Amino acid sequence: RSYEYILTSEPKPGVGQVTLNRPKALNALCTPLIHELNQALGEFNTSDSVSVIILTGSEKAFAAGADIKEMAPLTFSEAYTTSFIESWSQLTTQIKKPIIAAVAGHALGGGCELAMMCDILYCTEMANFGQPEIKLGVIPGAGGSQRLTRAIGKSRAMELILTGRSLSGVDAAQWGLAARAFPSYEALMESTLKTAETIAGYSKVAILAAKEAVNKSQDLPLRDGVEYERRVFHSLFGSEDQKIGMKAFAEKKKPEWTHK
Ligand code: HXC
Repeated sequence: RSYEYILTSEPKPGVGQVTLNRPKALNALCTPLIHELNQALGEFNTSDSVSVIILTGSEKAFAAGADIKEMAPLTFSEAYTTSFIESWSQLTTQIKKPIIAAVAGHALGGGCELAMMCDILYCTEMANFGQPEIKLGVIPGAGGSQRLTRAIGKSRAMELILTGRSLSGVDAAQWGLAARAFPSYEALMESTLKTAETIAGYSKVAILAAKEAVNKSQDLPLRDGVEYERRVFHSLFGSEDQKIGMKAFAEKKKPEWTHK
């Protein structure tokens, strides 16, 4: 399938990749791009050959934000009645497979928010994160004020969102926004693929359950979250792969997952 604003590939068995590809606008996230992204992620989500998804941009930009030129003329009633930006959350509500964001260059505004919607965030040390919406007379609109605050804490998030200043990949990793920062673009892409392959080597049932349980921690109070985890844990004793995995350990063999 060919898209206008993104590229899709399966770089390794079990790994699907979406590459944002609107170089003329530093991957600014116009509405048609978001629709293509949702379509591609939806297809990977239902594909038997994919267990984990990589979302990346270019060396220069993961994404420089929502498309400012598209947004500029929007009125309140248009934004409200068309649920502007709502379709962005499909990534967090529809996709059950883990998504690794590989961020190099700019990840600003909606670009930073898109990266934060992913399940693991890797970046280069030189990456440039920020929520500069205040400079445009608005505020983050795709979860930035919530996810950035959960990731790095209130005072740091408040400072970034109120000043619009940006944050390097080094700081992002130090503050816990990113899981790891890599010294070069090549190292970023290589390690992202390696991590994706590692995950894709496990039982798909367990991978999806793990993502679901961890994400609950963002929404539920601790006691409910722990209970939720226990229920999902219990349910995994109904999978074939639980038997396969534990038997293989006892026999000192490599498990051959059925993904069932
Ligand atoms: C539309 C954009 C864009 C954007 C860059 N471009 N960012 N177009 N929307 N968000 C376009 C530029 O207009 C220019 O097009 C081309 O991409 C190259 O950008 P330059 O500015 O010439 O590049 P450079 O000098 O390298 O500066 C890079 C930059 C700067 C620092 C990232 O482009 C920038 O500040 N961009 C805006 C960042 C931003 O404010 N993001 C938040 C958006 S608000 P031409 O045609 O001139 O070559 C947002 C709201 C989220 O995301 C809320 C809901 C999701």
